[in-house]
Amino acid sequence: MTTPDMPIRIGQKECKNRVTMAPTVKFNAGTDGMVTDFFVQHYAMRARHGCGLVCVEATAVSPEGRLFPSQLGLWNDAQIEGHRKIVEACRPYDVLILPQIHYGGLGTHPDCGRLTSPSAVKWNVRGEERMAEELSKEEIHRIQRCFVDAAVRAKEAGYDGVQLHGCHSYLINDFASRVNQRTDEYGGNTENRAWFGSEIIRGIREACGEDFIISVRISGYDPTVEESLGTGECYVRAGCDYLQVSNGIEDIRTLPHDESLPYNRVAALGVAFHAHFRGRVPVSLVNGIRTPAQVRYLLENDLTDTVDLACGVLADPAFAEAILYGGDYVKCVSCPHCGWGPMHPHICPALKKRGNEEWVWETHR
Ligand SMILES: Cc1cc2nc3c(=O)[nH]c(=O)nc-3n(C[C@H](O)[C@H](O)[C@H](O)COP(=O)(O)O)c2cc1C
Repeated sequence: MTTPDMPIRIGQKECKNRVTMAPTVKFNAGTDGMVTDFFVQHYAMRARHGCGLVCVEATAVSPEGRLFPSQLGLWNDAQIEGHRKIVEACRPYDVLILPQIHYGGLGTHPDCGRLTSPSAVKWNVRGEERMAEELSKEEIHRIQRCFVDAAVRAKEAGYDGVQLHGCHSYLINDFASRVNQRTDEYGGNTENRAWFGSEIIRGIREACGEDFIISVRISGYDPTVEESLGTGECYVRAGCDYLQVSNGIEDIRTLPHDESLPYNRVAALGVAFHAHFRGRVPVSLVNGIRTPAQVRYLLENDLTDTVDLACGVLADPAFAEAILYGGDYVKCVSCPHCGWGPMHPHICPALKKRGNEEWVWETHR
């Protein structure tokens, strides 16, 4: 029976337990994308309080692909030093640490760059209908190079690997989804739609070596669960070590789901991936996990390899410790607009409730 405290092999490295921190943007890097002290302390705190793997938030590989002007970056060498500080602050706690590397595509912020996509499609951007521009092959190759270069910088900063942002309607997800109507080698069947991401994975593997973890945060429902499993197969063939499953372009509410299960539709995508890839590649699930009992249920019943936590460990990093060792934690109350989100900068009620000094500094971010 798998328990949260059991180690797991990810690629060629060992993760000390099954509780991982999901990427969550803060958008307080400034327009230069540089790491500030806030980031260093924020991630070190989650590492110190038990997570076995910490994923640093969506980090832009190129400034024109940012999803917000103050997004963290790894698009130039000057940004490496700040990331090294995050890694060094987390290392004493024996965690694996990966940045999530990201390019906006249909999620690009209008103040950062053009709205681009594999194909020219109409897209609703913050309530406004806009036409996305189709990327040329030269642009595709340049963006792929930006991903590989960002991974090389991540390696130089000391990270254990990278996570590719391949869900939530950003560019790697756009390629794998129904918005891709290309007729060249980057469009058509599942393998072709996965080709953009697969080439990036191959490029990173070649540049960063076998012991560098390559995770993909993949959409499990684009355009169907079966096709997403096929996309996952392509990424694994290309060298992906870890599939961290979330949702993407398709409306998750259209996915049939047994409401009596103690996990939601998005987490169910991870369960489906785990059943498919069991014994070959570790899989994580995410979304709506708020109690230690839920985490234990998912692991003890062999429904996933690791459990990824976002709001739960934002609200209280001690959530990971409560899962691993028992004890108190302040439970995330699932605000409709998370207080950690940049668009809704109210203070997380859990931060207020915890109240002691270690947590309170985060309210001054
Ligand atoms: C404030 C905030 C920032 C987020 N930033 C990212 C991100 O950078 N990359 C990403 O893939 N998902 C991001 N997400 C989604 C989370 O990683 C996660 O999938 C989602 O919150 C559901 O998990 P939870 O119920 O444990 O919070 C973000 C979510 C929140 C609330």
